[in-house]
Amino acid sequence: MAREKVTGAQTLCMRRYLLTVCLSVWMDSAHGIGVQLIPQYPVVSQSVTLSVTGVTGTIRQFSWYKGSSVDANNQIFNVIPSLNSVTNGRQYFPRASHFPNGSLQISGLVPTDQGNYTVFIQTGETTAQHTVLLTVDEPVTSSVISTNNKEPQENEKVTLTCSTNNAEKILWSKNGVSLPPGLILSADNKTLTFSSVSRSDNGQYRCEASNTISKIISDPNTLTINYGPQNLKITGSLQVTYGNPMLLECSADSVPTPTYQWKFNWTLLELQNNLWHIQQATSKNVGYYTCTVTNSVTKLSLETSIYVTVNNFEPLSDNYAVILAAIVCGCILGSVLIICATFLLYKRYVVPLKGQSGDRGEDPYQIYHNISNTLVAHPEKEETPYVGLDYSSQNMYSDLKL
Ligand SMILES: *[C@@H]1O[C@H](CO)[C@@H](O)[C@H](O)[C@H]1NC(C)=O
Ligand SMILES: *[C@@H]1O[C@H](CO)[C@@H](O)[C@H](O)[C@H]1NC(C)=O
Ligand SMILES: *[C@@H]1O[C@H](CO)[C@@H](O)[C@H](O)[C@H]1NC(C)=O
Ligand SMILES: *[C@@H]1O[C@H](CO)[C@@H](O)[C@H](O)[C@H]1NC(C)=O
Repeated sequence: MAREKVTGAQTLCMRRYLLTVCLSVWMDSAHGIGVQLIPQYPVVSQSVTLSVTGVTGTIRQFSWYKGSSVDANNQIFNVIPSLNSVTNGRQYFPRASHFPNGSLQISGLVPTDQGNYTVFIQTGETTAQHTVLLTVDEPVTSSVISTNNKEPQENEKVTLTCSTNNAEKILWSKNGVSLPPGLILSADNKTLTFSSVSRSDNGQYRCEASNTISKIISDPNTLTINYGPQNLKITGSLQVTYGNPMLLECSADSVPTPTYQWKFNWTLLELQNNLWHIQQATSKNVGYYTCTVTNSVTKLSLETSIYVTVNNFEPLSDNYAVILAAIVCGCILGSVLIICATFLLYKRYVVPLKGQSGDRGEDPYQIYHNISNTLVAHPEKEETPYVGLDYSSQNMYSDLKL
């Protein structure tokens, strides 16, 4: 920049072959002009001012050129402020305008405005020129990650591509932090390649596309490596106590979650759950339980079986208990009936014979008391076989009566 600024002045110096003049020109140039872009990073469709700085003294005339040389073919315009005169050059375009302080304004920037611009300024006795590079940036367009492999399996190759435009820089992140080492990025960082994916590559990937004026971070792309099934097993008790619940669980390492199928004694069942639950195990549940798992992505299946026994210590089944209880109750009831019947027979046939000598028409209760009294009064009765029986029956009867 500095070298360019001085070049014109040096040429002048060489032509004159005078050190003093040369120095004076040098020093004048040392105040040298510059061009500042306002804004610093011009954006497409907006405007920019190429503001000339460092001008000392009154500007006699100035010219702007498209390109990096002062060449009539490149001229945009030439301005003589004191005369209010503007001469458009071959590179003139209506979006270009000038200010009295020598600055150039370009409105409605388009990408093709990008390039070098040179200003030539004459103030008093001296001239100066400066070239500036105008960049016209476009905001980056949305960045989106796409993948070549929607359902990647272990050891496959996976490529993630960040689709975006106008980006000057693309950065990738995994789970919010910079990429772990060992991954391959293309020169422009647009593609991220896993030559052989593994489960450790699982994660959320994002790409951040940026340029000087904008930055867009993509939505995350979740990489999930499909694998398995592996480590299939059925967990649960191999020996279940009769009447207790029985729970078998089939599990395997697998992504995605596998489908489950169960067999009992090699017969396929409807059950498509990883759990097999039986509320109360009986001898019917003894046998082989087989679980088959299938991974829908890897198309791999695994199968395993276990043999479950149900404890033979079945308590007397409920039916036996009922029958036993019935027998016991039946016996008791039978005894009671026999006793009652005996007593009634006794009362019906034996008592009336004995009571024929006593009062008639007395109610059974009275008769009963009579018997009792008689018995108590005369324990040495003749009807010995009946004595004990009568005695106890009578107590039982009176208990019932009371
Ligand atoms: C020149 O004038 C323009 C318009 O008024 C202004 O934006 C710019 O800052 C000026 N440049 C300098 C160096 O003063
Ligand atoms: C601008 O000028 C510089 C130096 O003269 C040159 O290296 C560069 O290629 C030019 N750029 C354009 C876009 O013309
Ligand atoms: C590419 O990414 C690396 C870091 O992963 C970064 O240092 C570099 O600047 C990026 N290059 C481009 C062109 O985006
Ligand atoms: C299942 O098979 C086992 C072993 O062959 C057998 O003991 C059991 O009775 C069978 N169970 C049923 C319900 O068929």
